[in-house]
Amino acid sequence: MGRFAKDKRDTYYRKAKELGFRARSAFKLIQLDHTFNFLNKDKVHRVVDLCAAPGSWSQVLARKLIIDNHQPSSQQYHTSSSSSSSTNKEIEEQEDCIIVAVDLQEMAPIPGVIQIQGDITSKTTADKIISYFHGKPADLIICDGAPDITGLHDIDEYVHSQLIMAAIDITTAILRNGGIFIAKIFAGSGSSNLRSQLQLYFHKVTLIKPPSSRPHSFEAFIVCEDYSPPKDYISRLLWPVNSNNNEIVNTNSASSDSISNATTTNNSNNNTIDNTNINNTSTNPDNLKKSEIIQRYMAIGDLDA
Ligand SMILES: C[S@@+](CC[C@H](N)C(=O)[O-])C[C@H]1O[C@@H](n2cnc3c(N)ncnc32)[C@H](O)[C@@H]1O
Repeated sequence: MGRFAKDKRDTYYRKAKELGFRARSAFKLIQLDHTFNFLNKDKVHRVVDLCAAPGSWSQVLARKLIIDNHQPSSQQYHTSSSSSSSTNKEIEEQEDCIIVAVDLQEMAPIPGVIQIQGDITSKTTADKIISYFHGKPADLIICDGAPDITGLHDIDEYVHSQLIMAAIDITTAILRNGGIFIAKIFAGSGSSNLRSQLQLYFHKVTLIKPPSSRPHSFEAFIVCEDYSPPKDYISRLLWPVNSNNNEIVNTNSASSDSISNATTTNNSNNNTIDNTNINNTSTNPDNLKKSEIIQRYMAIGDLDA
């Protein structure tokens, strides 16, 4: 039986159609939220949805965080999926909660969601995402990225690890202390290593496979709670422009633009990114070296930088 025929028999596929979700993946995020309870309208005001097309996770975000959810829980996700022609700028001005969705593919509009078409491994895209937050940190970053599968396991694993690294770079540049990062991973030999590496940044890291994730797939999700980077840690995206290392993984746009907030460090314990000029702390070569060692460990498990 072909994939699409199988899909049609699938409960989540049918339920997604019924509720107006663009993909059955919506239920993975809904089920993760049931377990970890992170879609809280009072606490979450800035969100990034990385690798978001066709947009079902963004639909869940918009319905939970923007559209009034004072309705019976069975109705909570059952809202109109009508498209909106609002521009990103208009959405930004209107909403209490800013949701930025990014993908290589173009997405049909989702009311309340700012959309960026771009490659998350490119620094230009990362700069754009950061610019929508105007120096304020994100509360939640989610990434459901999956590269086009070549069938060559090593290559597929490598390309996916680049997506995870790019997501982590963006996360460490803009997530607030205490914030949450969730990413799809492919469970295998590297996943426990990734988990211990992420424990450098987060107090609690959990690997989980929600019920709607197909049992035979290697897909799982890593839920990282309570962001707490090492002291004086500076995201690679925020290093001074003249630093030789101010590049994001696999930068295919090779942009030499500076990040608009290149002078930003993310060490504060409150809900704002510390916008003091890049100062002795962050330009201090020792601190950049420390951050570089952590980033090399994250990227290739190398502590010998
Ligand atoms: C499984 S789909 C995401 C589904 C989405 N969460 C939803 O619920 O509709 C994976 C997405 O990753 C995107 N993707 C893969 N590599 C990317 C990259 N380098 N930058 C941005 N998006 C990427 C693909 O275009 C694809 O749309």
